[in-house]
Amino acid sequence: MSNTIEELEKQFQEKIDNEIKIEPKDWMPDDYRKNLIRQMSQHAHSEVIGMQPEGNWITRAPSLRAKKILLAKIQDEAGHGLYLYSAAETLGVSRDQFIQWLHEGKAKYSSIFNYPTLNWADMGAIGWLVDGAAIVNQVSLQKTSYGPYARAMVRICKEESFHQRQGFEIMAKMMAGTKEQQQMAQDALNRFWWPSLMMFGPHDSDSSRSSLALKWKIKRETNDTLRKRFIDKTIPQAEFIGLKVPDPDAVLQPDGSYKTGPIDWDEFWNVVKGNGPCNKQRLDHHKRAHDNGKWVREACIAFSEKQDKRKVIAN
Ligand code: 3HC
Repeated sequence: MSNTIEELEKQFQEKIDNEIKIEPKDWMPDDYRKNLIRQMSQHAHSEVIGMQPEGNWITRAPSLRAKKILLAKIQDEAGHGLYLYSAAETLGVSRDQFIQWLHEGKAKYSSIFNYPTLNWADMGAIGWLVDGAAIVNQVSLQKTSYGPYARAMVRICKEESFHQRQGFEIMAKMMAGTKEQQQMAQDALNRFWWPSLMMFGPHDSDSSRSSLALKWKIKRETNDTLRKRFIDKTIPQAEFIGLKVPDPDAVLQPDGSYKTGPIDWDEFWNVVKGNGPCNKQRLDHHKRAHDNGKWVREACIAFSEKQDKRKVIAN
């Protein structure tokens, strides 16, 4: 006799509670599947859209070494997007569907990528802050309950530390440079600090997804816990090279953590809702690139179908 829904849900939660990974073929609550489809595909979109602000500076890198590092990083981000789309597809949704939801505005990507990159210091700020924030979030996600997602995170995290270090190196070099370079680096920090804190999502009390995500161990720690971990490790890094975070309320506490000022959640939701400086540009670029790449996808499919036919004939 087949299990009732209640028994299945009970067995599912016991696996979660006992740290047994949920695999694609396992029974799972519809809402667990839906939450993961949403989060994982949006994570993948973020990796791919995130290539645009940095790609903007490949032709203008200040040296061959800087150009090679930036190219390697952007190539990594493309790979992260592909891992995550592949992991998300195990939940029963096609990549084409993910891309369609993105183009229709039904899927999100991280708000941070809707800000412009105005000069080379922004490459440093993005690597140091954005990848630094992503590392804090993704190290925690290595323990997420869905097997394919957890394994993708382990692989991605190995590359993220290079991303964060090369960004910090750019900022350190500029702070050791001319007055103008120091002002550029400080200006980049001023523009990217708050949007980087927003990457961790709304405050726990305003996070619509967190309670179930924590019960099902999709999330292992709350938005605010991760944001605080990022703040506490990043402010000393800024001060070490002579930068100052643009938060007059940032104060070091006796326990070594920082008390910080309020985040502008109106700005956050305004950007999330599509009214950021670059939302339209990012999506238009993605649509154009997707359309321009149609022939490549068709050629790959035609080739693989031909190969399959050959195999059938050969057998
Ligand atoms: N940008 C856009 N939307 C955001 C957001 C942000 N920074 N933070 C939260 N949101 C959205 C959520 O998607 C959710 O909307 P939805 O229900 O329509 O999807 C809503 O705001 C409420 O937020 P919640 O905190 O309740 O939602 P989540 O539980 O999904 O938590 C999250 C948000 C912490 C971003 C979580 O989704 C997560 O950990 N995602 C995986 C990590 C990720 O996507 N990182 C993006 C950056 S990737 C990156 O930087 C790569 C690096 O290599 C450059």
